[in-house]
Amino acid sequence: MSQKIKAGFIGLGSLGAPIARRLARTGFDVIACDIAPQMLEAFDEPGTTRERDPVATARQSDMLGVCVRTDEQLRSLAGGGSLFAAMPKGSLFILHSTVAPDLARQLAEQAHAAGVGFIDAGVSGGGPAAIEGKLSLFVGGEPSVVERAMPWLQALGKSIAHLGPVGRGLEAKLLNNLVSIANYGMSAAILDLGDKLHFDREQLRQALMAGSAQGFALQAVPGPLRPRGPGAPGAFDSLYELLKKDVDHARLLAPAADVSMAALLASCQSMLDHIQRAAAADQGGRSLSPPSEGGRVALVTGAAAGIGRAVALRLAREGMSVGVLDLNLEGAESVATEINARGGRAMALGASIADRAQVTAAVAKLRAALGPVTVLINNAGMTAFAPFEELTDESWDRVMTVNLKGTFIVTQVVLPDMKAARWGRIVNISSSSAQVGTPAMSHYVASKGAIIALTRSLARELGPHGITVNNIPPGSVMNTLMSEANRDRMQISQEELIRTLPVRRTGEPEDIANACAWLVAEGSGYVTGQTIGVNGGRVMA
Ligand SMILES: NC(=O)c1ccc[n+]([C@@H]2O[C@H](COP(=O)([O-])OP(=O)(O)OC[C@H]3O[C@@H](n4cnc5c(N)ncnc54)[C@H](O)[C@@H]3O)[C@@H](O)[C@H]2O)c1
Repeated sequence: MSQKIKAGFIGLGSLGAPIARRLARTGFDVIACDIAPQMLEAFDEPGTTRERDPVATARQSDMLGVCVRTDEQLRSLAGGGSLFAAMPKGSLFILHSTVAPDLARQLAEQAHAAGVGFIDAGVSGGGPAAIEGKLSLFVGGEPSVVERAMPWLQALGKSIAHLGPVGRGLEAKLLNNLVSIANYGMSAAILDLGDKLHFDREQLRQALMAGSAQGFALQAVPGPLRPRGPGAPGAFDSLYELLKKDVDHARLLAPAADVSMAALLASCQSMLDHIQRAAAADQGGRSLSPPSEGGRVALVTGAAAGIGRAVALRLAREGMSVGVLDLNLEGAESVATEINARGGRAMALGASIADRAQVTAAVAKLRAALGPVTVLINNAGMTAFAPFEELTDESWDRVMTVNLKGTFIVTQVVLPDMKAARWGRIVNISSSSAQVGTPAMSHYVASKGAIIALTRSLARELGPHGITVNNIPPGSVMNTLMSEANRDRMQISQEELIRTLPVRRTGEPEDIANACAWLVAEGSGYVTGQTIGVNGGRVMA
């Protein structure tokens, strides 16, 4: 190069730093910039200048490359156009970050207004390929601008595909990454299937690699081996984060009504789930597959009687180990004994859900004996009857403390296990009375209504951690809580009650247990934040 091109480069991460090094090694006069001091310090390429201030970098650049990680970082870097305004007129901006194509188009307009050329150049191949100049580049931009950027692009890429105007490079890069997700995710999913069939994961992987299944994705997909290559620990976690970002962006590409695209994205999401689990396993050395049905530990509160007992028996039948928690330890012991006698695994735990210390101790005991808890049925509850005007503060507080605060406490105590496993199922037992209102039970009904609202908030907060949260408002289920005496207090006879129900019968605890078993199953991972009425048609949502 006769006169060295002044090449600013902002974002010295796992891809940006090797790109900047490659540019320096191929004759560019590199000004390397990162706002994180440790990244800047780590960039020790001889013959380059380091600069902390992006605007100062822009001011000195004939060409400015950017490889920051997220849309937000890029937007804030561009500063509403101030970055382009700082660049010399006629200079070039080269975007290597994988961001939403629309953002690239917006920024291109700002650059254009400042007299700066703009191209997007999505990059595939990773850091090692960048150092060797063997990246694949997906480029969008006006032909004359792309032509001017060619020295830069040729320094980096063995394949340079110019696919259209600004934005097209990133769109193609997204499609490229969807293929990667399919490859990695499908390989991870198939190894997960091997786990379920009790294969040794690594042995199976090696066997597959020897045959026609061999390929980079299968080789690289997380297994008992640590990932190789740069930034090894947690590399799959960042792979997940990166690919997830791509799926999110790809949603913006698809016309909402395009069913085949929607199906494709749904399967990408499912592939991502496998990558995420593999990443979690990689980080903590935990089991690589989703916990198998037999390996799961469920905690059922209020499980000495009624609905809770039926749920505990049912989940044990599904092969789960069950913590049978109740205030009534004797009753809990009898349920645990029943499960163990049938060849299941259960442990009785005496605790009040309203007492944090008792719950913490009980969960610790369960965890130590049977393993981390990833299924929680918040069933324990109490009722009380009083016309509203006769309600005392004490009665109000007692019902709220057991039903609502108890649900809060148990969920909070169990949550770390689910987060660590990146998988969890929470089912809160609310009440159909909260959907329709019931006289003389306003405190109970209010507590159950709050549980429905809590369910929705938790579903939003915990969904990204692989945890679903739903609630079941039972209709009238025959047991202590719906005893004859209590029906009298509610001023409704058994016959009247049945006449109002389309299915013409009251509920059995097993009706609720069936719905619980479905909600906590592997296949229900797309159901969250829902109210699943099991009420014989009392309430129709
Ligand atoms: N039975 C119904 O018709 C009906 C209708 C709507 C909602 N529900 C809800 O279903 C859940 C179960 O009700 P059920 O009918 O099976 O009641 P149940 O009275 O038969 O069983 C409740 C169990 O919870 C336990 N419990 C109560 N307070 C506790 C505490 N502080 N800590 C630990 N355990 C405690 C009790 O000892 C009992 O074993 C409750 O949340 C209830 O509000 C029941």
